[in-house]
Amino acid sequence: MIPDDFKQQLLNRVDIVDVIEHHVQLRKAGQNYVARCPFHNEKTPSFSVSPSKQFYHCFGCGAHGNAIGFVMEHAGLGYVEAVTELAAMVGMTLPEQRATDVVTRTQQGPDLAECLLRAARFYKEQLKRSERAIAYLKQRGLNGEIAARFGLGYAPGGWQSLAEPFSDYKTSTALKDAGLVIDAEGGRRYDRFRDRIVFPIVNARGAIIGFGGRIIDAGEPKYLNSPETPLFEKGRELYGLFQSRQGLRESGRAVVVEGYMDVVALAQYGVPGVVATLGTATTPMHLEKLLRLTDQVIFCFDGDEAGRRAAWRAVETSLGKLVDGKGVGFLFLPDGDDPDSYVRRDGREAFELLLREAVPLSEMIMRELSERADLATPEGRARLLHLAKPLLAQVNAPALALLLRRRLAAATQVEVADIERLFGLRRAPQAAPHTAAAPPPRRAAPTLMRWLLQAILTAPHLAARLARSALDPSDRYTPALAAVLDLVAARPDINPRQVVPWAMERIQDGAVALVLREVQCDLLSAPQVDIEAEFAEALAKAQQQTLRRRLTALRAAEHRSPEEQAELECLLRGLSQAAKEPAVRLESSV
Ligand code: UTP
Ligand code: MN
Repeated sequence: MIPDDFKQQLLNRVDIVDVIEHHVQLRKAGQNYVARCPFHNEKTPSFSVSPSKQFYHCFGCGAHGNAIGFVMEHAGLGYVEAVTELAAMVGMTLPEQRATDVVTRTQQGPDLAECLLRAARFYKEQLKRSERAIAYLKQRGLNGEIAARFGLGYAPGGWQSLAEPFSDYKTSTALKDAGLVIDAEGGRRYDRFRDRIVFPIVNARGAIIGFGGRIIDAGEPKYLNSPETPLFEKGRELYGLFQSRQGLRESGRAVVVEGYMDVVALAQYGVPGVVATLGTATTPMHLEKLLRLTDQVIFCFDGDEAGRRAAWRAVETSLGKLVDGKGVGFLFLPDGDDPDSYVRRDGREAFELLLREAVPLSEMIMRELSERADLATPEGRARLLHLAKPLLAQVNAPALALLLRRRLAAATQVEVADIERLFGLRRAPQAAPHTAAAPPPRRAAPTLMRWLLQAILTAPHLAARLARSALDPSDRYTPALAAVLDLVAARPDINPRQVVPWAMERIQDGAVALVLREVQCDLLSAPQVDIEAEFAEALAKAQQQTLRRRLTALRAAEHRSPEEQAELECLLRGLSQAAKEPAVRLESSV
């Protein structure tokens, strides 16, 4: 959509140092600049920006790219959006293109954005003066610091309060287009938000694009939101994303709640990474945006029937957007609670515990489908397969798809191969079909070492059975596995749920911490397996691989000592013996 020469011109014109400096504090180091990486949590700077190459690179997490890539990753924007933003920075105009809405957006943008900002300042000022509004926020348990962080304000009760900050109140088209006023019949104009607490809605760049207004005390409607405008599209925006971005990165997860108050309350209590949809169901666009910024997304719902239905809609929305290595989980609150009331009563720790117990997507699918089909009868099991087929067809992530087929196979007492035949699937697809929307894969296929790491994080008592000699030194998961083995050796009786947080606190190496976080989110998406049995198989396989490595090394050696020669022969005997026994089976994609 954007011509290549335009992209080149743009990259020539912008300076990546300027772009990044906007968001990250850079320090000059020789020819380059360094900083603590904005894409992963680290104590020592391993993020480097090269002005000569116009590239950034993080030696800790491997993030790298040019100015466009940085804006996409950092702000969670799509390609066109990122190009548009950079072009605006250096005063370039996008060439004619099909996505004309992008152009109109930027043309109308400055005027509307200016209006919204001025209104927000006015509302904030009014909050300071209104005892009634302040008392309401206090009674809801909000402190001044959090109100300031979210820019909360108060829209006074009059019909035309905005005439004060806007001298052209009666004539301004921008005021109308920004959704701040409503033109009634007869040409009379009045404020949309009256006698309400206002929550500014901010886009990924920190610009105000709309408001949500809550009535004080009781009344209808409880919340009034800005209408969709050229700046504000509800299916795209998430309330609180701008404020929570840092926390979202550091915690490695996003928490999606329903209400403005939930976001603000959780932030006040120190739960990081919380965002809300804006009075709409979660859209694929929302999920895509979040998965670009983090590896794990947890949806919170009420524990009632409506919550269950909403959760199922979110499952259906998520299926096509899932990527292996990224997880989606579901948390159900006790009846009558929302995140705001829960965290205020039971506190942050209790809420974090709920998050850790979130139900993985695969589990949600199995639960829901099993409720609709009676697994005790063959007809019921056939119905389960029938219900599952269209869902599975949407899953693009190969490992997840395989795991789901296995769960289905187990539940219906059918072979995986039969399910694949039934669903018209090829056996074990090799690679994910790449849709334009899916983020680029950053990780290699899961390896045996990775599986062992995952197993030990799930069941730390297994660590004692894994000998160091069985670790594959060339595997990228081995350093993390070794680090976890060390830690677990010191606390063999640790509660499985505490392993990851406990290890994260102690691991200094940024790359290892990153790997742990990656594997942690797979724990969430991995269905229950018979961990003991699979571990034994994996162990046997790892030992075999070690023997093979040794064998290859011995064979390749130009000179062998008599001991080495004896070892080689012994290994060869052992292998031919093993070949007669049933092969050790472990599918690599687990
Ligand atoms: P809730 O009614 O659960 O909101 O609606 P809440 O945040 O818990 O409200 P408090 O605690 O009573 O203040 C969830 C979300 O649905 C949208 C809003 O975005 C709200 O935050 N909503 C709700 C509306 O848009 N209009 C409404 O009338 C009600
Ligand atoms: Mn509430």
